[in-house]
Amino acid sequence: MQNVPMEGNTAELRHIPVLVDEIMAFARQAITPLPSLPNERELWCVDATLGDGGHSLALLGLNERIRVLAFDRDGEMLARARARLHQSAILSPLLTGTDFRQMRSRLRQASSVRHWRVHANYCHAAAWLTELGIQPRFVLLDAGLSLFHYKAAGRGFSYSDSGLDMRLDHALTDPEDQKAAALTSESSFAGQNAEAIPALVWLNQASESEIADCLYQYGEEPLSRRIARSIVQNRPFGSARQLADQIRTIIPIARQRKERIHPATRVFQALRIRTNDELGALSRAVASLSPLIEPGGMFAVISFHSLEDRIVKTHFKTIGQRLAARQQQDGNADQTLEATGQTQKRPKEWKVRRKTTTGDRPGWWILTPRPLRPGESELQRNPASRSACLRVLQRAATDA
Ligand SMILES: C[S@@+](CC[C@H](N)C(=O)[O-])C[C@H]1O[C@@H](n2cnc3c(N)ncnc32)[C@H](O)[C@@H]1O
Repeated sequence: MQNVPMEGNTAELRHIPVLVDEIMAFARQAITPLPSLPNERELWCVDATLGDGGHSLALLGLNERIRVLAFDRDGEMLARARARLHQSAILSPLLTGTDFRQMRSRLRQASSVRHWRVHANYCHAAAWLTELGIQPRFVLLDAGLSLFHYKAAGRGFSYSDSGLDMRLDHALTDPEDQKAAALTSESSFAGQNAEAIPALVWLNQASESEIADCLYQYGEEPLSRRIARSIVQNRPFGSARQLADQIRTIIPIARQRKERIHPATRVFQALRIRTNDELGALSRAVASLSPLIEPGGMFAVISFHSLEDRIVKTHFKTIGQRLAARQQQDGNADQTLEATGQTQKRPKEWKVRRKTTTGDRPGWWILTPRPLRPGESELQRNPASRSACLRVLQRAATDA
């Protein structure tokens, strides 16, 4: 993502949601009423990463019966989303605290409220759903950061920032949200990663080998050792800008010319992932959320780099293989392959292929044996979408 300094009102800066058509095509399928479900029943969706609310708005537009429970660990994003939803005349109260009995009754009574926000890490989303008694039909997790973080948050995600904090957990900033949190007499950070320290603090005190390991593991940076040595020799660092300038001096010019990314991209990615335990949160979220999805429902995950995608792919395959094992026992290897998506060709465009079997086969379908990526027109409209990669899993309509 490029560094463009922002001017003017940051509320006007909007994250452009990625792969919306593709995701809505899957979601539309997921909410198609099953014959066994009463028609008037509400359809719960989870937006695990609310951000600026673009995907939430698209989900709400699919069907009047859809209700969305949306998470974000960043209180500043929750405020931005509330303002945006408000512009579309959508009320989105904050659910906070641990009095789940009271929250369940609020959800029941305010049945006309279609969007609710939760200030929490998505790795706790499954616990929230269980406590609130919600079984979602569609779960979307759009990993990573929003455009606001890169361009205007001033927390060190941008190479030109004057700080280098990088913590995503951020207090509530909307006065209404703060009031709601105060009423529960609990910290708005309940359940958040309270031990996280700013990236700068860690970088200025970690050993050379710890820094090298971090850059290699989370940034896949081939020059991790050389960069770590230079960081230790040149610290303390005071800002993202200073760190980015230092890294620019280490990366060979030939590599800088060849790669079309900022020379500090891998280092910043590694520090951000480490600071926020991003991979741990993603692993816990995909493992804990999938069992809660309603039969026939879907789980869609958008990732932005190979480390995230590997977690999603592995988890989806593990679930798929459970189906494979069971069907092989039935001596039905062909159907097994098809059901786990092994023989499915990548859909030409974004059109969703209906699998041959619904309703009577237990287990999970992998609807995207290969991840879907933005098409040409999306890339032109939104170049920042270029690394997005979508995988979708569907729970069969009936369980074994
Ligand atoms: C890519 S943006 C989502 C954009 C959103 N889909 C939209 O349409 O605007 C990711 C959002 O997820 C939030 N986030 C990242 N990791 C999170 C986590 N572990 N738990 C909850 N929210 C998280 C970030 O604060 C950010 O607002």
